[in-house]
Amino acid sequence: MKFFIDTANLSQIKEAHDLGILDGVTTNPSLMAKEGIKGYDAIMRHYVDICNIVEGDVSAEVVATDLEGMIREGEELAALSEKIVVKIPMIKEGVKAIRYFSQKGIKTNCTLVFSAGQALLAAKAGATYLSPFIGRIDDTGHDGLDLIEQIVDIYATYNFETQVLAASIRSPLHIIKCAQVGADVITAPLDAIMALLNHPLTDIGLAKFLADAKKMA
Ligand code: G3P
Repeated sequence: MKFFIDTANLSQIKEAHDLGILDGVTTNPSLMAKEGIKGYDAIMRHYVDICNIVEGDVSAEVVATDLEGMIREGEELAALSEKIVVKIPMIKEGVKAIRYFSQKGIKTNCTLVFSAGQALLAAKAGATYLSPFIGRIDDTGHDGLDLIEQIVDIYATYNFETQVLAASIRSPLHIIKCAQVGADVITAPLDAIMALLNHPLTDIGLAKFLADAKKMA
């Protein structure tokens, strides 16, 4: 399973990268705005800065909602680096844009996915990644994990190459459950990734080992 970090914050990306487990980065307009990035040049520079930190794929989202605009923006983003994955919303024109980029060999991440039907369309169009938002489904009183399981099952049945990228992850338990149902990728905030490190018995055990090690000095 690949680990992506879901942020546009450069120091958090560096921290996850330094841990040695990072396979890529996902961003969206909300995450970019949170970093105070403004204007075309600053946005493009920021994506390049992210690409300079990580080895893997970096999702950069288009903001146009018409086909022509999505293609123009996507091509500009893809020209920044081979690591760039053009992130496209699951709307009618988005499906057409995914098909366009897929035929040109440009990687895509279909975002804002909330149903198996949408997942089928994105895979048929040739999306590289599919981003179901599990936390936001949980927020509605339904289980986001059920959707991941359903899509993993459908994609396996038909050998679709689209990778299931579980997004809108809020906790370490989300990550573990995504691993259990076979998500290809998770993208999570730094704190959810780092929380996987923690266990009180590890801390207690280490304190005891270190105390006993002193007896041997
Ligand atoms: O990857 C999608 C993510 O950024 C959305 O997360 O917590 O706003 O639902 P959230």
